Amino acid sequence: MSVRVTVNGDAPYDVVIGRHLLGELPGMLGTGVRRVLVMHPASLSATGEAVREDLVAQGYEAFVVELPDAEEQKTAQVAAFCWQVLGQADFTRSDAIVSVGGGATTDLAGFVAATWLRGLRVVHMPTTLLAMVDAAVGGKTGINTAEGKNLVGAFHPPAGVLCDLAALESLDRWDLVAGMAEVVKTGFIADERILELVEAHADDLRGWKGPDATDETWAVLAELVERSVRVKARVVGEDLTEQGLREILNYGHTLGHAIELTERYQWRHGAAVAVGMVFAAELARLGGKLDDAVVDRHREILTSLGLPTSYRGDRWDKLLGAMRRDKKTRGDLLRFVVLDDVARPTRLEGPDPTLLAAAYAEVSKEPPTGNAEVKVQLGL
Ligand SMILES: NC(=O)c1ccc[n+]([C@@H]2O[C@H](COP(=O)([O-])OP(=O)(O)OC[C@H]3O[C@@H](n4cnc5c(N)ncnc54)[C@H](O)[C@@H]3O)[C@@H](O)[C@H]2O)c1
Repeated sequence: MSVRVTVNGDAPYDVVIGRHLLGELPGMLGTGVRRVLVMHPASLSATGEAVREDLVAQGYEAFVVELPDAEEQKTAQVAAFCWQVLGQADFTRSDAIVSVGGGATTDLAGFVAATWLRGLRVVHMPTTLLAMVDAAVGGKTGINTAEGKNLVGAFHPPAGVLCDLAALESLDRWDLVAGMAEVVKTGFIADERILELVEAHADDLRGWKGPDATDETWAVLAELVERSVRVKARVVGEDLTEQGLREILNYGHTLGHAIELTERYQWRHGAAVAVGMVFAAELARLGGKLDDAVVDRHREILTSLGLPTSYRGDRWDKLLGAMRRDKKTRGDLLRFVVLDDVARPTRLEGPDPTLLAAAYAEVSKEPPTGNAEVKVQLGL
């Protein structure tokens, strides 16, 4: 059975969550599409080819582009290669792109779709947990430059998103756990039931067994994806371009981005966001907003999933500098999303430097979680 979540906005679209969803693709592509370019990383060539063949069987002229893996594909060079393919195959504005892959692929394919002829339809078929609950929904697209991640991009909502849970069978434990950080984030900012589900099933999620996972674990994962997508759909449906409400999705991301940068992107995004959420919780606690119990809950849930909750004490100056330079900072003012309680997010602007340092001291009290240690924790 599949679930359909509608994302409102100027051009509403559906996110379908379930299994065997290829039959939904033509409906999402809409009328008038003749040519479709399927974009996937090399690791998903069998799935990408199956999608292409299905499209051909349905009467489309379908092409594939095999992309480099992970962040390697989010470059201007790869985008230019895709534009070349679209040009040589005479793609018009009424044709379409289908992405099959993780968040790196949905970001790149979305960007190529946004820019070719000023906007082609794109349908995302996310294959990682992170891409299902975050990257594929909401219309943010982008590529990296030598100066930093996601510096070039566009808002380009998809025509639809197909989350085929079966794709998660082949996902390794580390990728599932990294995606769980965004799921937990969604729980803290908007849906306590997510936290309860994770608390009850953390062992099974941390020890993700893919095809050997129990029916119960699959059911839990399906509910977590659905609940997370519902929250993201509601938030981006109200605020596509990050003028207000959408900012709550950045919970844990201000310090998280700074850690990623300091670690030269060797840490997974989810691991950095996990530490960032504990920092934000400590900021709120020390500022007198949040109860100790909710802060403890952050550490307990994240640790039960095998995610890190602390970082090196000797890195504060570097992290502070990186936060000040973050593209999401407005002017000189540091901004954080913090909680008054579970599901009650609010904004903290320009906090006192001593409060920031005190919150960081709480995050760096435990033995520092170095990169190698994080990998060990996550079973690599
Ligand atoms: N646009 C947004 O709103 C948004 C939000 C969050 C993250 N992102 C972007 O998403 C990217 C991270 O996404 P990600 O974690 O999915 O990374 P990813 O796309 O790099 O995928 C991680 C790895 O998993 C592999 N993979 C993908 N699907 C698989 C499957 N089903 N089975 C086995 N292996 C599979 C990929 O080939 C890759 O090696 C970053 O570039 C980030 O900037 C974008």
